[in-house]
Amino acid sequence: MGNDKDLLSIANLTSEQVRQLVEDGVQIKQERSSRVLDGKIIALLFEKPSLRTKSSFEVGIRQLGGQAVYFGRDEVGLGVRESVADVTRVLERMFDGIVARVFDHAKLEEMAKYARIPVVNALSDAEHPCQALADLVTLQENFGELGGKRVVFVGDGNNIAVSLGFACASVGTDYVVASPPGYRIPDGVWKKMSQRAQSSGSRMEWVERPQDAVRDADCVYTDVWTSMGQEAEQAKRLKAFGGYQVNPELMKLAKPNAVFMHDMPAHEGEEISKGMLDHPQSVAFDQAENRLHAQKAVLAWLYSND
Ligand code: CP
Repeated sequence: MGNDKDLLSIANLTSEQVRQLVEDGVQIKQERSSRVLDGKIIALLFEKPSLRTKSSFEVGIRQLGGQAVYFGRDEVGLGVRESVADVTRVLERMFDGIVARVFDHAKLEEMAKYARIPVVNALSDAEHPCQALADLVTLQENFGELGGKRVVFVGDGNNIAVSLGFACASVGTDYVVASPPGYRIPDGVWKKMSQRAQSSGSRMEWVERPQDAVRDADCVYTDVWTSMGQEAEQAKRLKAFGGYQVNPELMKLAKPNAVFMHDMPAHEGEEISKGMLDHPQSVAFDQAENRLHAQKAVLAWLYSND
């Protein structure tokens, strides 16, 4: 049971693997030549809606010579219509890999336990590793280096913030999180991230006020305040995150050449002001494109023979 190579979280990769995947993503973007998935068919199993992740995996798999078969939430009923173990053991008889977007990260871990084929996290409540790798590819292409840069995440200490934090901690990028008390990255996760940061030389910091956090930032990053599955908390969250909006005034406090990043979809009037995605410092659409290149690097790594 199980398989040597999965991508469930950035925390499960070594720092060296993170660095290599980012380097490969940058290179693949320039070359676009590998056919590592020739003859392979990958199942895309999504419990939640997606634009970027679904399209970048489908396109990337085809460009690498493989094929993708997409299953939406109502088709499979993962853990509802059928147990996670049974779904996994059926899929592995027909497919060469599973890319899954789930509400509960434990489902991914269970899939990885039963699958003898690679399992890739396409977003869970705990992490979004493919997004974080694309984010580092974007930073690398903007700055030419990652070490010593200062990334400031403004908002909810959610799955995006966690994966980005582990990614920054792997490559020597300083990581500052500005979030209101009660919405910080969980203590245990932050501790683990900080341990990794010590070996790469990254500095990790939590700051309550975004205006303090973004000073000297090379990158100001935000994400939605209410993630998929948290809709019942929306009113409470809008109140808690008032004052955490990224807007042109906040960007002025960062370095003049700082970039603005957002993994999207974005909610204008909430975590960003209207027009922020088109701000002169925004690289949000490059980030979206880099999902494709970073994931091709992941697939090439998973299906290479070494
Ligand atoms: N950023 C991201 O994962 O986008 P989708 O939800 O559209 O896949």
